[in-house]
Amino acid sequence: MKNILSKYIFVIFCLIFSQITNAKTDECFNCHSGLDDSPSKLFKNDIHQKVGLSCSSCHGGDNTSDDMEISMDKKNGFLGIPSQNKISEICAKCHSDIENMKKYRTDISTGQLEELKKSVHGAIAVDGKGMILQCTTCHNAHGIKKVTDSGSLVYPTNIPNTCNKCHGDINYMRKYNPGLSVDQLAKYRESKHGKLNLKGNRKVAQCASCHGSHAVFTSKDVRSKVYPLNIPETCSTCHSDKEYMKESNIPTDQFEKYKKSVHGVALFEKKDISAPVCNSCHGNHAATPPGISSISKICGTCHALNAELFGNSPHKKVFDENNYPECETCHGNHLILVARDQLLGVNEGAVCAKCHTEEKNPKGFKAAVKMRALIDSLVVLDSISRRQIFIAEQKGMEVEEAKFKLRDVHQAELEARTVVHAFDAEKFSEIINKGVNASNEVISEANSQVDEYYFRRYGLVVAVLIISLLALLLYFQIKRIEAKQNL
Ligand code: HEC
Ligand code: HEC
Ligand code: HEC
Ligand code: HEC
Ligand code: HEC
Ligand code: HEC
Ligand code: HEC
Ligand code: HEC
Ligand code: HEC
Ligand code: HEC
Ligand code: HEC
Repeated sequence: MKNILSKYIFVIFCLIFSQITNAKTDECFNCHSGLDDSPSKLFKNDIHQKVGLSCSSCHGGDNTSDDMEISMDKKNGFLGIPSQNKISEICAKCHSDIENMKKYRTDISTGQLEELKKSVHGAIAVDGKGMILQCTTCHNAHGIKKVTDSGSLVYPTNIPNTCNKCHGDINYMRKYNPGLSVDQLAKYRESKHGKLNLKGNRKVAQCASCHGSHAVFTSKDVRSKVYPLNIPETCSTCHSDKEYMKESNIPTDQFEKYKKSVHGVALFEKKDISAPVCNSCHGNHAATPPGISSISKICGTCHALNAELFGNSPHKKVFDENNYPECETCHGNHLILVARDQLLGVNEGAVCAKCHTEEKNPKGFKAAVKMRALIDSLVVLDSISRRQIFIAEQKGMEVEEAKFKLRDVHQAELEARTVVHAFDAEKFSEIINKGVNASNEVISEANSQVDEYYFRRYGLVVAVLIISLLALLLYFQIKRIEAKQNL
C-alpha cells in the first residue's frame, strides 16, 4: 500500500515537474541554440525573449516539441521564413492589437503598421513585391531591444545611421526619386544637433524627432511634422520646454516670440506659407544659429532689395568689423515686428540712436535726423492729400485722377522705407521728393476740383440772377407794351 502510494506521488510529482519545465523551455530555442545559429544567439538579448516569447511567437510551429519534424510542421502552424509584407503583418499581430499587448502588461503604443502603411515608406517598393520598408528594416528581426536601450537600432544616437543606410545611398535613392538629395546626414553632422548627437547626447533632435518614426511624410504633405505650418510646433516641443532644455544654456522663448512676430502672424493668422518658419532661417539639417555675416543672406532670400541695399551701404563694412549681426541688430530675430517710421531717427524707439549721437558717429546722427524729418513730411503731405480728396469727393466731384496719383505718393513711401537700407540721406531724399511732387499734384488736383465746385455753385447763382433780371426786364417790357396799348 505504502509503496503504491509513494509511486503515485512520484508519478504526479514528475507530471507536475514536466509541466513546469515544458512551459519554461522553448524547444525551438533549445535546439537552435545547439546549432549555434545567429537568430538564436541574437534572441538571447531580445526584448521578446525577456517577456517570455518564443521563436514560434513569430515563426509559428509547436515550441513544446523537441522533434523538428513536429515542431516545424506546417500542420502545427509553422510559417517558415516570412518575407515582404508578411514580416510586418507578423509584428502587427501583437503590435497593432491593444488587447493582445495587454496580456504582456505593457503600455507601449500600438498601431505602427497602420502608420507605416500610410507613410512615404509604405508605398510599393520598386520590385513591386511589398512596402519599401518593413518593421525589420529599422528594428531588425532578431536581437530587438527596447528603444531606450543603447543597443537598439532606433536609440537616438543610432537613428541617423539607421536612416542613412538608404538616405545616404545615391544609387538606391535614385531608383525612387532622382531629385531627392542624399546629403541629410552630412549636413546634420554640421549642425549643433548632429555634433552633440555624435557625442552621445540623447536630447538633441535626430531624424525621427523632426520627421516622426512611423508616420514619415514628405514635407509637402500637411500631415508631415516638417510641413511649414507644423514646423514651429515640431521644434518647440523641445525648444519651448524649460524642463527638457534645462541642461543647455539657451533661451526657451523662440516660439513665444515668433508667434507674435510679423512672420508668425503671417503664417498662423494669414496662413501665408511664404513667411519664414524656424527652418527658413536655421536650415533643415544644418540647424545652427545663422552666423553673424550670413544673416543678411538668409533674410535676403526673401527681402532681396533690403539685403542688396544694406550690402552696398556704409554699414556693411563697419557691422562686419564690429560683429554686429546685420539685419538682426535693428530688427531682432524671433520678435521681428512691423517696421514703423519710429525706428528711424534718434528719438525714443529709434534704432539709429543706439550707435549715433552728436558726439559718437555724428555723420550718421545727422543723416538719421534728416531722413526722419523727410519721411515725416511726406507722411504729413500724404494725409493732407487724402483729406483734400475726401473733401472734393464729399462735394460730389470727380476725384479718380487724384486718387490714381495718390498711389505714387504711397509708392514713394514704400520705396523710401526700403531705401532706408542704403543709409544715404541723398538717395533717400530723391525718393521722398518724388513723393512730395506727386502729393503736390494730388493736392492741387483736389483743390481745383473744389474750386470747380464753387465756381459751378456761384455760376448758378449768377445765372439765376441774370435770368431773373432778364425775366424782370421782360416783365416790365410787357407791362410797358400793355400800357401803351391801353392808351
Ligand atoms: C530539434 C531541433 C530543432 C527544433 C526543435 C526546431 N528547429 Fe528550426 N531548424 C532546425 C534545423 C536543423 C534547421 C535547418 C534546416 C534546414 O536548413 O533545412 C531549422 C530551420 C529553421 C528555420 C528556417 C527555415 C527555412 O525554411 O530555412 C526556421 C525559421 C526555424 N527553424 C524556426 C523554428 C521554430 C519556430 C521552431 C519551434 C517551433 C523550431 N525551428 C524548432 C532545427 C530545429
Ligand atoms: C519578433 C519576431 C521573430 C522572432 C521572435 C524570431 N524570428 Fe526568426 N525571423 C523573423 C523574421 C521577420 C525573419 C525574416 C527575415 C529577416 O528579416 O531577417 C526571420 C528569419 C529567420 C531565419 C532565417 C534567416 C536568418 O536570419 O537566418 C531563421 C533561421 C530564424 N528566423 C530563426 C529564428 C529562431 C531560431 C528564433 C528563436 C531563437 C527566431 N527566429 C525568432 C522574425 C522573428
Ligand atoms: C523608418 C524606420 C522604422 C520602421 C519602418 C518601423 N519603426 Fe518602429 N520605431 C522607429 C523609431 C525611430 C522608433 C523610436 C521612436 C520613439 O522613441 O518614439 C520606433 C519605435 C517603435 C516601438 C516602441 C514604441 C513605444 O511606444 O515605445 C515599437 C513597438 C515599434 N517601433 C514597432 C514597430 C513595428 C511593429 C513596425 C512595423 C509595422 C515598425 N516599428 C516599423 C522606427 C521605425
Ligand atoms: C507575440 C507578440 C509579438 C510579436 C509577434 C512581436 N512583438 Fe514586439 N513586442 C512584444 C512585446 C510583448 C514587447 C515588450 C513590450 C515592453 O517592452 O513592454 C515587444 C517589444 C518590442 C519592441 C521594443 C519596444 C520598447 O518597449 O521599446 C520593439 C521595437 C518590437 N517589439 C518590435 C517588433 C517587431 C519588429 C516585430 C516583428 C518582427 C515584433 N515586435 C513582433 C510583442 C510582440
Ligand atoms: C530602406 C530604405 C530606407 C530607410 C531605412 C529609410 N528611408 Fe526614408 N525613404 C526611403 C525611400 C525609398 C523614400 C521614398 C522617396 C520618394 O519616393 O520620394 C523615402 C522617403 C523619405 C522621406 C520623404 C522625402 C521626400 O520629401 O520626398 C523622408 C522625410 C524620409 N524618408 C525620412 C526617413 C527617416 C527619418 C528614416 C529613419 C527613421 C528613413 N527615412 C529611413 C527609403 C528609406
Ligand atoms: C531639426 C529637424 C530635422 C532633423 C534632425 C532632420 N531633418 Fe530631414 N528635414 C527637416 C526639414 C525641415 C526638411 C525640409 C522641409 C522642406 O522641404 O521645407 C527636411 C527634409 C528631409 C528630406 C527631404 C529631402 C530634403 O533634403 O529636403 C529627407 C529625405 C530628410 N529630411 C531625411 C532626414 C534624415 C535621414 C535625417 C537624419 C540624418 C534628418 N532628415 C534629420 C528637418 C529635419
Ligand atoms: C528632440 C528635441 C529637439 C528638437 C525637435 C529640435 N531641437 Fe534644436 N536643440 C535641441 C537641443 C537639446 C539643443 C542643444 C542645446 C545645447 O545644449 O546647446 C538644440 C540646439 C539647437 C540650436 C543651436 C542653439 C545654440 O545656440 O547652440 C538651434 C539653432 C536649434 N536647436 C534649432 C532647432 C530647429 C530650427 C528645430 C526644428 C526644425 C529644432 N532645433 C528641433 C533639441 C531639439
Ligand atoms: C526670421 C529668421 C528666424 C526665424 C523664423 C527663427 N529664427 Fe531662431 N534665430 C534667428 C537668428 C538671427 C538667431 C540669432 C543668431 C545669432 O545672433 O547668433 C536665432 C537664434 C536661435 C536659437 C539660439 C538661441 C537664441 O535664442 O538665441 C535657437 C535655439 C533658435 N533660434 C530656434 C528657433 C526656433 C525653434 C524657431 C521657430 C519657432 C526659430 N528659431 C525661428 C533667426 C530666426
Ligand atoms: C521665407 C521668407 C522670409 C525670410 C527668410 C524673412 N522674411 Fe521677413 N517677411 C516675409 C514676409 C512674407 C513678410 C510679410 C508678412 C506680412 O505682413 O504678411 C515679412 C515681413 C517682414 C518685416 C515687416 C515688413 C513691414 O512691412 O513692416 C520685417 C521688418 C522683416 N520681415 C524682416 C526680416 C528679417 C530681419 C529677416 C531675417 C532675420 C527676415 N525678415 C526673413 C518673408 C521672409
Ligand atoms: C541700421 C538699422 C537697420 C538695419 C541694419 C536693417 N534695417 Fe530694415 N529697417 C530699418 C528701419 C529704420 C526701417 C523702417 C523704415 C521706415 O519705416 O521708415 C526698416 C524697415 C525694414 C522693412 C520694411 C520696409 C520694407 O522694405 O518693406 C524690412 C522688410 C526690413 N527693414 C528688412 C531688413 C533686412 C532684410 C535687413 C538686413 C539685410 C535690414 N532690414 C537691416 C532699419 C534697419
Ligand atoms: C549698431 C550700430 C549702428 C546702428 C544701429 C546704426 N549705425 Fe549708422 N553707422 C554705424 C557706424 C559704426 C558707422 C561708421 C562710423 C561713421 O561713419 O559715423 C555708421 C555710419 C553711418 C552712415 C555713414 C556716415 C558717413 O560716413 O557718411 C550713415 C548715413 C548712417 N550710419 C546712418 C544710420 C541710420 C540712418 C541709422 C538708423 C536707421 C543707423 N545709421 C544705425 C553704426 C550704426
